[in-house]
Amino acid sequence: MTQENEQIKVLFLGDMVGRPGRSVVKHYLGDLFTSENKTYDFIIANVENASHGFGLTEKNHKELGEIGINCFTSGNHIWDKKDVYSYINNSDKLIRPWNYPKGTYGVGYRIFDVKNTKIAVLNFLGRTFMNPVDSPWEIIQNEIEQIKAQAPIVIVDFHAEATAEKICFGKFCSEYKISAVLGTHTHVQTADEKIINDYTAYITDAGFCGAHNSVIGMAYESSVKRLVTSIPERFDIDESPILELNAVEMSFDAVSGQAQSIKRIQYIKDMSEENK
Ligand SMILES: [Fe+2]
Ligand SMILES: [Fe+2]
Repeated sequence: MTQENEQIKVLFLGDMVGRPGRSVVKHYLGDLFTSENKTYDFIIANVENASHGFGLTEKNHKELGEIGINCFTSGNHIWDKKDVYSYINNSDKLIRPWNYPKGTYGVGYRIFDVKNTKIAVLNFLGRTFMNPVDSPWEIIQNEIEQIKAQAPIVIVDFHAEATAEKICFGKFCSEYKISAVLGTHTHVQTADEKIINDYTAYITDAGFCGAHNSVIGMAYESSVKRLVTSIPERFDIDESPILELNAVEMSFDAVSGQAQSIKRIQYIKDMSEENK
């Protein structure tokens, strides 16, 4: 008789934008932890926009670490709050894109003990319509063997703009038996979740967590002013009370790391009553 391997359930939350993003994530996780039928073994969140839309303060880093998130991924905006330099090297949860030049503050991947297995979380920036960085393709080619030797489940947050680059990276990573490639950065959830090559859970973009009626988390008024005048305007966070959370949930074989499922989540929470 063959015995089925244990399944590991993972939740991945798209870019959290400002206080509305932090708030909807807190509500969602609070509801989850009080209901008995839905639990995750591991929760990852992209936090590059978590503090007023740009970067992550030490205060928010601490606060988000206390609500059940196990790993923070990031992206191009992670450097926007200058206090990141004072705590990133001491964080046991936060990673920054791996393909910044050698010597950059922080680390590009971390390995976590989860149940009886290990999960490696890797973060990369794309290079199409983005500022120049090292090749994520070469890092995968050169480093994946040592990562897989340490952790059967390998999850990549690919923080990138161009859909074709993201799809190619997903297919490329499936050739190296990476468990999941999850896109971030555009803040708009795509409807193309799938398992590539019967191995790698994939979505082009997981979406964002923030104000539902916003422009990717920012207020319409400040966003449209920039476009109409072509003059750089300050972006303001949309503080309106209807909130939205975008995420994916996945399950993996604890021994092989192979993805078994990926499902999109979109959760809307109207805070009008609670804010009164
Ligand atoms: Fe973002
Ligand atoms: Fe970004």
